[in-house]
Amino acid sequence: MPLNPIPFITRKRDGLSLSSGELDALVRAYVGGEIPDYQMSAWLMAVFLRGMNAEETAALTEAMLRSGQVLQLRSVERHRVDKHSTGGVGDKISICLAPAVAACGVAVPMICGRGLGHTGGTLDKLEAIPGYSTTLDAARFEHVVATVGVSIMGQTREIAPADARLYALRDVTGTVESIPLIVASILSKKLAEGIDGLVLDVKVGRGAFMKEISGARELADALVAVGTRAGKRVSALLTDMGTPIGLTIGNALETREAIDVLRGGGPPDTVELTSALGAEMLAQAGLPGSRDEHTERILRALRDGSALSVFTRMVEAHGGDPRVVEDHGRLPSAPHRIPVLAGRAGTVQRVDALALGVLATRMGAGRVRTEDHVDPAVGIELCAHIGDSVEADAPVAWLHARTDDPPRLWLDTVRESFAIYAEPRERATRILERRGSNQGSATTPSSEAGTTPLTV
Ligand code: URA
Repeated sequence: MPLNPIPFITRKRDGLSLSSGELDALVRAYVGGEIPDYQMSAWLMAVFLRGMNAEETAALTEAMLRSGQVLQLRSVERHRVDKHSTGGVGDKISICLAPAVAACGVAVPMICGRGLGHTGGTLDKLEAIPGYSTTLDAARFEHVVATVGVSIMGQTREIAPADARLYALRDVTGTVESIPLIVASILSKKLAEGIDGLVLDVKVGRGAFMKEISGARELADALVAVGTRAGKRVSALLTDMGTPIGLTIGNALETREAIDVLRGGGPPDTVELTSALGAEMLAQAGLPGSRDEHTERILRALRDGSALSVFTRMVEAHGGDPRVVEDHGRLPSAPHRIPVLAGRAGTVQRVDALALGVLATRMGAGRVRTEDHVDPAVGIELCAHIGDSVEADAPVAWLHARTDDPPRLWLDTVRESFAIYAEPRERATRILERRGSNQGSATTPSSEAGTTPLTV
Protein backbone atom coordinates (compact mmCIF):
# COMPACT_ATOMS: atom_id res chain seq x y z
CA MET A 1 0.00 0.00 0.00
CA PRO A 2 1.40 3.44 -0.87
CA LEU A 3 2.61 5.51 2.08
CA ASN A 4 0.22 8.20 3.31
CA PRO A 5 2.48 11.26 3.81
CA ILE A 6 -0.15 13.47 5.50
CA PRO A 7 0.72 12.48 9.11
CA PHE A 8 4.42 13.16 8.31
CA ILE A 9 3.52 16.61 7.05
CA THR A 10 1.19 17.54 9.91
CA ARG A 11 3.54 16.26 12.61
CA LYS A 12 6.41 18.31 11.21
CA ARG A 13 4.08 21.28 10.79
CA ASP A 14 3.25 20.98 14.52
CA GLY A 15 6.93 20.87 15.49
CA LEU A 16 7.07 17.16 16.35
CA SER A 17 9.91 14.88 15.30
CA LEU A 18 9.92 11.86 12.99
CA SER A 19 11.71 8.60 13.71
CA SER A 20 14.52 7.26 11.54
CA GLY A 21 12.19 4.53 10.24
CA GLU A 22 9.60 7.12 9.26
CA LEU A 23 12.16 9.32 7.50
CA ASP A 24 13.51 6.32 5.65
CA ALA A 25 9.99 5.33 4.56
CA LEU A 26 9.23 8.89 3.44
CA VAL A 27 12.40 9.20 1.33
CA ARG A 28 11.89 5.75 -0.20
CA ALA A 29 8.27 6.50 -1.05
CA TYR A 30 9.19 9.84 -2.64
CA VAL A 31 12.01 8.38 -4.75
CA GLY A 32 9.71 5.46 -5.66
CA GLY A 33 7.12 7.87 -7.07
CA GLU A 34 4.48 7.20 -4.39
CA ILE A 35 4.40 10.80 -3.10
CA PRO A 36 3.61 13.70 -5.44
CA ASP A 37 5.80 16.80 -5.45
CA TYR A 38 3.09 18.98 -3.88
CA GLN A 39 2.98 16.85 -0.72
CA MET A 40 6.76 16.56 -0.51
CA SER A 41 6.98 20.35 -0.95
CA ALA A 42 4.62 20.82 2.00
CA TRP A 43 6.81 18.53 4.10
CA LEU A 44 9.99 20.37 3.05
CA MET A 45 8.41 23.70 3.99
CA ALA A 46 7.38 22.27 7.39
CA VAL A 47 11.03 21.20 7.92
CA PHE A 48 12.23 24.60 6.77
CA LEU A 49 9.98 26.37 9.30
CA ARG A 50 10.22 23.91 12.22
CA GLY A 51 13.74 22.53 11.78
CA MET A 52 14.96 19.06 12.71
CA ASN A 53 16.80 17.74 15.73
CA ALA A 54 20.23 16.07 15.43
CA GLU A 55 18.78 12.54 15.27
CA GLU A 56 16.34 13.47 12.53
CA THR A 57 19.07 15.23 10.50
CA ALA A 58 21.31 12.16 10.77
CA ALA A 59 18.42 9.84 9.86
CA LEU A 60 17.43 11.95 6.85
CA THR A 61 21.07 11.97 5.70
CA GLU A 62 21.26 8.21 6.00
CA ALA A 63 17.97 7.70 4.17
CA MET A 64 19.18 9.90 1.31
CA LEU A 65 22.59 8.19 1.25
CA ARG A 66 20.91 4.78 1.08
CA SER A 67 18.70 5.87 -1.81
CA GLY A 68 21.68 5.11 -4.07
CA GLN A 69 25.07 3.51 -4.42
CA VAL A 70 27.76 3.85 -1.74
CA LEU A 71 31.24 3.47 -3.24
CA GLN A 72 33.68 1.23 -1.40
CA LEU A 73 36.94 2.01 -3.29
CA ARG A 74 38.44 -1.26 -2.02
CA SER A 75 41.39 -1.02 -4.41
CA VAL A 76 42.47 2.37 -3.02
CA GLU A 77 45.04 1.59 -0.38
CA ARG A 78 45.69 5.10 0.91
CA HIS A 79 43.59 7.13 3.31
CA ARG A 80 40.79 8.88 1.43
CA VAL A 81 39.81 12.38 2.31
CA ASP A 82 37.69 14.89 0.44
CA LYS A 83 36.87 18.59 0.75
CA HIS A 84 33.55 20.28 0.20
CA SER A 85 32.98 24.00 -0.14
CA THR A 86 29.56 25.51 0.51
CA GLY A 87 30.11 27.68 -2.56
CA GLY A 88 31.75 30.96 -3.34
CA VAL A 89 32.85 33.39 -6.01
CA GLY A 90 36.15 32.63 -7.73
CA ASP A 91 36.41 29.38 -5.75
CA LYS A 92 38.80 27.30 -7.83
CA ILE A 93 40.46 25.78 -4.76
CA SER A 94 39.49 22.12 -5.40
CA ILE A 95 41.45 22.14 -8.67
CA CYS A 96 44.75 22.99 -7.00
CA LEU A 97 44.00 21.46 -3.60
CA ALA A 98 43.04 17.90 -4.57
CA PRO A 99 46.23 17.17 -6.61
CA ALA A 100 48.41 18.78 -3.91
CA VAL A 101 46.88 16.55 -1.22
CA ALA A 102 47.26 13.49 -3.46
CA ALA A 103 50.92 14.42 -4.03
CA CYS A 104 51.34 14.22 -0.23
CA GLY A 105 50.14 10.60 -0.23
CA VAL A 106 46.43 10.93 0.58
CA ALA A 107 43.79 9.77 -1.92
CA VAL A 108 41.13 12.29 -2.92
CA PRO A 109 37.93 10.84 -4.43
CA MET A 110 36.09 14.05 -5.22
CA ILE A 111 32.55 14.14 -6.57
CA CYS A 112 31.43 17.69 -7.01
CA GLY A 113 28.77 19.89 -8.52
CA ARG A 114 28.08 22.61 -11.02
CA GLY A 115 27.64 26.27 -10.31
CA LEU A 116 24.20 27.62 -9.58
CA GLY A 117 23.25 31.23 -9.04
CA HIS A 118 26.17 33.55 -8.34
CA THR A 119 28.50 30.75 -7.14
CA GLY A 120 30.69 28.75 -9.51
CA GLY A 121 31.12 24.97 -9.67
CA THR A 122 34.29 22.91 -9.97
CA LEU A 123 32.82 20.75 -12.76
CA ASP A 124 32.22 23.73 -15.03
CA LYS A 125 35.80 24.87 -14.43
CA LEU A 126 37.32 21.46 -15.23
CA GLU A 127 35.15 21.12 -18.32
CA ALA A 128 36.91 24.22 -19.65
CA ILE A 129 39.86 21.84 -20.27
CA PRO A 130 39.35 20.43 -23.80
CA GLY A 131 38.31 16.77 -23.60
CA TYR A 132 38.08 16.53 -19.78
CA SER A 133 35.25 14.12 -18.95
CA THR A 134 33.41 14.63 -15.67
CA THR A 135 31.20 11.56 -16.17
CA LEU A 136 33.24 8.48 -15.31
CA ASP A 137 31.53 5.30 -14.21
CA ALA A 138 32.19 4.06 -10.67
CA ALA A 139 34.82 1.49 -11.74
CA ARG A 140 36.81 4.03 -13.78
CA PHE A 141 36.57 6.60 -10.97
CA GLU A 142 37.98 4.06 -8.52
CA HIS A 143 40.75 3.12 -10.97
CA VAL A 144 41.80 6.75 -11.40
CA VAL A 145 41.79 7.36 -7.62
CA ALA A 146 43.80 4.16 -7.09
CA THR A 147 46.40 4.90 -9.77
CA VAL A 148 46.68 8.70 -9.86
CA GLY A 149 45.64 9.44 -6.28
CA VAL A 150 42.82 11.80 -7.25
CA SER A 151 39.79 11.96 -9.48
CA ILE A 152 37.37 14.85 -9.74
CA MET A 153 34.06 14.10 -11.44
CA GLY A 154 30.35 14.88 -11.29
CA GLN A 155 27.60 13.16 -9.41
CA THR A 156 26.35 10.01 -11.13
CA ARG A 157 22.66 9.11 -11.26
CA GLU A 158 23.41 6.27 -8.87
CA ILE A 159 24.78 8.50 -6.09
CA ALA A 160 22.16 9.81 -3.64
CA PRO A 161 19.33 10.05 -6.21
CA ALA A 162 17.02 11.26 -3.42
CA ASP A 163 19.14 14.41 -3.16
CA ALA A 164 18.89 15.17 -6.86
CA ARG A 165 15.05 14.98 -6.64
CA LEU A 166 14.78 16.84 -3.34
CA TYR A 167 17.29 19.54 -4.28
CA ALA A 168 15.39 20.30 -7.51
CA LEU A 169 12.17 20.59 -5.48
CA ARG A 170 13.79 22.78 -2.81
CA ASP A 171 15.17 25.02 -5.51
CA VAL A 172 11.66 25.93 -6.70
CA THR A 173 9.85 25.97 -3.34
CA GLY A 174 11.99 28.40 -1.33
CA THR A 175 13.36 25.67 0.94
CA VAL A 176 17.07 25.67 0.10
CA GLU A 177 18.31 27.71 3.09
CA SER A 178 17.51 25.18 5.81
CA ILE A 179 20.42 23.84 7.85
CA PRO A 180 19.12 20.25 8.30
CA LEU A 181 18.21 20.04 4.61
CA ILE A 182 21.60 21.44 3.53
CA VAL A 183 23.44 19.04 5.87
CA ALA A 184 21.53 16.00 4.58
CA SER A 185 22.01 17.12 0.98
CA ILE A 186 25.77 17.68 1.23
CA LEU A 187 26.60 14.69 3.40
CA SER A 188 24.40 12.16 1.58
CA LYS A 189 26.55 12.80 -1.51
CA LYS A 190 29.91 13.07 0.23
CA LEU A 191 29.44 9.96 2.40
CA ALA A 192 28.67 7.97 -0.77
CA GLU A 193 32.23 8.59 -2.04
CA GLY A 194 33.88 5.97 0.14
CA ILE A 195 35.86 8.50 2.19
CA ASP A 196 37.49 8.18 5.61
CA GLY A 197 37.53 11.91 6.28
CA LEU A 198 36.00 15.15 5.07
CA VAL A 199 37.02 18.78 5.39
CA LEU A 200 34.32 21.39 4.94
CA ASP A 201 35.04 24.88 3.72
CA VAL A 202 32.07 26.82 5.08
CA LYS A 203 32.01 30.20 3.39
CA VAL A 204 30.89 33.31 5.24
CA GLY A 205 30.07 36.77 3.94
CA ARG A 206 28.33 38.64 1.13
CA GLY A 207 29.34 36.18 -1.57
CA ALA A 208 28.29 33.10 0.46
CA PHE A 209 25.10 31.28 1.36
CA MET A 210 25.78 32.15 4.99
CA LYS A 211 26.11 35.91 5.36
CA GLU A 212 26.79 35.86 9.12
CA ILE A 213 29.38 33.95 11.11
CA SER A 214 26.73 32.66 13.55
CA GLY A 215 24.84 30.86 10.74
CA ALA A 216 28.10 29.51 9.31
CA ARG A 217 29.06 28.13 12.72
CA GLU A 218 25.68 26.47 13.08
CA LEU A 219 25.99 24.88 9.64
CA ALA A 220 29.61 23.79 10.24
CA ASP A 221 28.77 22.26 13.62
CA ALA A 222 25.77 20.38 12.20
CA LEU A 223 27.89 19.03 9.31
CA VAL A 224 30.67 17.98 11.68
CA ALA A 225 28.21 16.33 14.09
CA VAL A 226 26.35 14.29 11.46
CA GLY A 227 29.55 13.33 9.60
CA THR A 228 31.26 12.28 12.82
CA ARG A 229 28.22 10.21 13.76
CA ALA A 230 28.71 8.40 10.46
CA GLY A 231 32.14 7.32 11.64
CA LYS A 232 34.11 9.81 9.53
CA ARG A 233 36.71 12.33 10.61
CA VAL A 234 35.13 15.66 9.82
CA SER A 235 36.23 19.20 10.48
CA ALA A 236 35.38 22.57 9.03
CA LEU A 237 37.15 25.82 8.29
CA LEU A 238 35.04 28.95 8.24
CA THR A 239 36.52 31.14 5.52
CA ASP A 240 35.83 34.68 4.39
CA MET A 241 33.75 35.04 1.22
CA GLY A 242 33.24 38.80 1.28
CA THR A 243 35.69 39.27 -1.62
CA PRO A 244 36.28 37.00 -4.64
CA ILE A 245 38.94 34.32 -4.23
CA GLY A 246 42.06 35.13 -6.23
CA LEU A 247 41.92 37.40 -9.25
CA THR A 248 39.58 35.52 -11.59
CA ILE A 249 35.87 34.72 -11.85
CA GLY A 250 34.77 32.54 -14.77
CA ASN A 251 35.48 28.95 -15.73
CA ALA A 252 38.57 28.90 -18.00
CA LEU A 253 40.01 31.95 -16.21
CA GLU A 254 39.76 30.17 -12.88
CA THR A 255 41.22 26.92 -14.22
CA ARG A 256 44.16 28.94 -15.53
CA GLU A 257 44.66 30.53 -12.11
CA ALA A 258 44.45 27.14 -10.37
CA ILE A 259 47.16 25.87 -12.75
CA ASP A 260 49.27 28.90 -11.76
CA VAL A 261 48.93 27.82 -8.12
CA LEU A 262 49.93 24.26 -9.09
CA ARG A 263 53.01 25.74 -10.76
CA GLY A 264 54.05 27.32 -7.47
CA GLY A 265 52.59 30.79 -8.20
CA GLY A 266 49.09 32.25 -8.00
CA PRO A 267 47.53 34.90 -5.75
CA PRO A 268 48.45 34.74 -2.03
CA ASP A 269 44.86 34.22 -0.79
CA THR A 270 44.36 31.29 -3.17
CA VAL A 271 47.60 29.70 -1.99
CA GLU A 272 46.59 30.37 1.64
CA LEU A 273 43.22 28.61 1.23
CA THR A 274 44.86 25.71 -0.62
CA SER A 275 47.51 25.17 2.04
CA ALA A 276 45.14 25.61 5.01
CA LEU A 277 42.50 23.23 3.65
CA GLY A 278 45.22 20.84 2.48
CA ALA A 279 46.81 20.81 5.94
CA GLU A 280 43.41 20.03 7.42
CA MET A 281 42.96 17.14 4.96
CA LEU A 282 46.39 15.69 5.80
CA ALA A 283 45.50 15.89 9.50
CA GLN A 284 42.16 14.13 8.83
CA ALA A 285 44.08 11.40 7.01
CA GLY A 286 46.09 10.89 10.21
CA LEU A 287 49.47 11.87 8.73
CA PRO A 288 51.96 12.48 11.52
CA GLY A 289 53.09 16.05 12.19
CA SER A 290 51.77 19.40 13.27
CA ARG A 291 49.40 21.63 11.32
CA ASP A 292 52.35 23.85 10.38
CA GLU A 293 54.24 20.83 9.03
CA HIS A 294 51.20 19.79 7.00
CA THR A 295 50.93 23.32 5.59
CA GLU A 296 54.59 23.18 4.64
CA ARG A 297 54.06 19.78 2.93
CA ILE A 298 51.29 21.21 0.77
CA LEU A 299 53.34 24.30 -0.11
CA ARG A 300 56.30 22.08 -1.01
CA ALA A 301 54.09 19.95 -3.30
CA LEU A 302 53.01 23.15 -5.07
CA ARG A 303 56.59 24.41 -5.40
CA ASP A 304 58.39 21.21 -6.38
CA GLY A 305 56.08 20.24 -9.27
CA SER A 306 54.68 17.08 -7.65
CA ALA A 307 51.15 18.53 -7.34
CA LEU A 308 51.32 19.70 -10.98
CA SER A 309 52.42 16.26 -12.10
CA VAL A 310 49.44 14.63 -10.29
CA PHE A 311 47.09 17.16 -11.86
CA THR A 312 48.51 16.47 -15.35
CA ARG A 313 48.00 12.73 -14.87
CA MET A 314 44.44 13.28 -13.62
CA VAL A 315 43.62 15.41 -16.67
CA GLU A 316 45.02 12.67 -18.96
CA ALA A 317 43.09 9.95 -17.11
CA HIS A 318 39.89 11.95 -17.68
CA GLY A 319 40.58 12.28 -21.40
CA GLY A 320 41.59 15.95 -21.16
CA ASP A 321 44.36 17.75 -23.01
CA PRO A 322 47.33 17.82 -20.58
CA ARG A 323 49.07 20.48 -22.68
CA VAL A 324 46.89 23.14 -20.96
CA VAL A 325 49.37 22.87 -18.11
CA GLU A 326 52.16 24.33 -20.24
CA ASP A 327 50.05 26.38 -22.57
CA HIS A 328 47.13 28.44 -21.24
CA GLY A 329 46.31 29.31 -24.84
CA ARG A 330 44.72 25.86 -25.15
CA LEU A 331 41.97 26.90 -22.73
CA PRO A 332 38.94 28.67 -24.22
CA SER A 333 39.29 32.44 -24.31
CA ALA A 334 36.78 35.20 -24.95
CA PRO A 335 37.18 37.30 -28.12
CA HIS A 336 37.20 40.63 -26.25
CA ARG A 337 39.09 41.87 -23.21
CA ILE A 338 37.65 45.17 -22.00
CA PRO A 339 39.30 47.28 -19.29
CA VAL A 340 37.28 48.80 -16.44
CA LEU A 341 39.05 51.86 -15.03
CA ALA A 342 39.19 52.54 -11.31
CA GLY A 343 37.84 56.08 -11.64
CA ARG A 344 39.60 57.19 -8.44
CA ALA A 345 43.02 56.72 -6.92
CA GLY A 346 43.60 55.11 -3.54
CA THR A 347 43.79 51.75 -1.80
CA VAL A 348 41.28 48.95 -2.41
CA GLN A 349 39.33 48.41 0.83
CA ARG A 350 36.67 45.95 -0.34
CA VAL A 351 35.71 44.01 -3.48
CA ASP A 352 32.08 42.92 -3.57
CA ALA A 353 32.04 39.16 -4.28
CA LEU A 354 28.26 38.96 -4.59
CA ALA A 355 27.97 41.75 -7.17
CA LEU A 356 30.82 40.31 -9.28
CA GLY A 357 29.47 36.75 -8.97
CA VAL A 358 26.06 37.89 -10.18
CA LEU A 359 27.65 39.83 -13.04
CA ALA A 360 29.80 36.87 -14.14
CA THR A 361 26.64 34.73 -14.22
CA ARG A 362 24.86 37.38 -16.32
CA MET A 363 27.84 37.44 -18.71
CA GLY A 364 27.33 33.70 -19.28
CA ALA A 365 29.89 32.19 -16.88
CA GLY A 366 27.20 30.74 -14.59
CA ARG A 367 23.68 29.44 -14.73
CA VAL A 368 20.37 30.53 -13.26
CA ARG A 369 18.60 27.21 -13.89
CA THR A 370 20.31 23.82 -13.65
CA GLU A 371 19.69 23.13 -17.34
CA ASP A 372 21.38 26.37 -18.54
CA HIS A 373 24.66 26.13 -20.49
CA VAL A 374 27.74 28.00 -19.30
CA ASP A 375 30.24 29.79 -21.49
CA PRO A 376 33.70 28.57 -20.41
CA ALA A 377 35.52 31.58 -21.88
CA VAL A 378 33.82 34.60 -20.33
CA GLY A 379 34.40 36.16 -16.93
CA ILE A 380 36.09 38.87 -14.94
CA GLU A 381 39.80 39.26 -14.25
CA LEU A 382 40.69 41.54 -11.34
CA CYS A 383 43.84 43.65 -11.49
CA ALA A 384 43.75 44.67 -7.83
CA HIS A 385 42.75 43.10 -4.55
CA ILE A 386 42.30 44.36 -1.01
CA GLY A 387 45.27 46.44 0.11
CA ASP A 388 46.51 47.22 -3.43
CA SER A 389 46.99 50.84 -4.55
CA VAL A 390 45.29 51.86 -7.78
CA GLU A 391 45.47 54.91 -10.07
CA ALA A 392 42.27 56.56 -11.30
CA ASP A 393 43.04 55.91 -14.97
CA ALA A 394 44.34 52.37 -14.56
CA PRO A 395 42.13 49.29 -14.89
CA VAL A 396 40.83 47.57 -11.74
CA ALA A 397 39.51 44.70 -13.83
CA TRP A 398 39.14 43.29 -17.34
CA LEU A 399 35.90 41.88 -18.66
CA HIS A 400 36.46 38.78 -20.83
CA ALA A 401 33.37 39.03 -23.00
CA ARG A 402 31.69 37.88 -26.21
CA THR A 403 30.93 41.50 -27.10
CA ASP A 404 33.21 44.50 -27.54
CA ASP A 405 30.34 46.78 -26.52
CA PRO A 406 29.27 45.56 -23.08
CA PRO A 407 26.22 47.10 -21.39
CA ARG A 408 27.06 50.17 -19.28
CA LEU A 409 25.61 48.30 -16.29
CA TRP A 410 28.41 45.71 -16.49
CA LEU A 411 31.11 48.37 -16.34
CA ASP A 412 29.34 50.27 -13.53
CA THR A 413 28.86 47.07 -11.54
CA VAL A 414 32.57 46.27 -11.67
CA ARG A 415 33.62 49.82 -10.80
CA GLU A 416 31.15 50.03 -7.89
CA SER A 417 32.28 46.64 -6.60
CA PHE A 418 35.61 48.20 -5.67
CA ALA A 419 35.60 50.39 -2.55
CA ILE A 420 38.66 52.65 -2.99
CA TYR A 421 39.71 55.15 -0.32
CA ALA A 422 42.85 57.11 0.55
CA GLU A 423 43.72 55.24 3.75
CA PRO A 424 45.95 52.15 3.66
CA ARG A 425 44.45 48.73 4.24
CA GLU A 426 46.07 45.48 5.36
CA ARG A 427 45.18 42.28 3.54
CA ALA A 428 43.53 39.95 6.09
CA THR A 429 43.61 36.18 6.31
CA ARG A 430 40.70 34.33 4.74
CA ILE A 431 40.73 31.66 7.46
CA LEU A 432 38.31 32.78 10.17
CA GLU A 433 37.84 29.76 12.40
CA ARG A 434 38.18 26.00 12.67
CA ARG A 435 35.34 23.76 13.93
CA GLY A 436 35.54 20.07 14.91
CA SER A 437 37.98 18.26 17.09
CA ASN A 438 38.60 14.72 15.92
CA GLN A 439 42.28 14.73 15.08
CA GLY A 440 43.15 11.09 15.87
CA SER A 441 46.40 9.39 14.94
CA ALA A 442 46.86 7.37 11.78
CA THR A 443 44.51 4.45 11.37
CA THR A 444 44.12 1.77 8.74
CA PRO A 445 42.11 3.07 5.79
CA SER A 446 38.55 1.87 6.26
CA SER A 447 37.43 -0.87 3.90
CA GLU A 448 33.88 -0.23 5.11
CA ALA A 449 33.94 3.44 4.23
CA GLY A 450 30.47 4.79 3.69
CA THR A 451 28.75 1.86 5.32
CA THR A 452 28.75 2.92 8.98
CA PRO A 453 25.18 3.57 10.10
CA LEU A 454 24.56 7.20 11.02
CA THR A 455 22.05 6.38 13.67
CA VAL A 456 24.44 4.90 16.23
N1 URA B 1 24.93 22.35 -1.63
C1 URA B 1 24.33 21.15 -1.67
O1 URA B 1 24.86 20.19 -2.20
N2 URA B 1 23.12 21.05 -1.10
C2 URA B 1 22.48 22.07 -0.50
O2 URA B 1 21.40 21.89 0.00
C3 URA B 1 23.13 23.32 -0.48
C4 URA B 1 24.37 23.44 -1.05
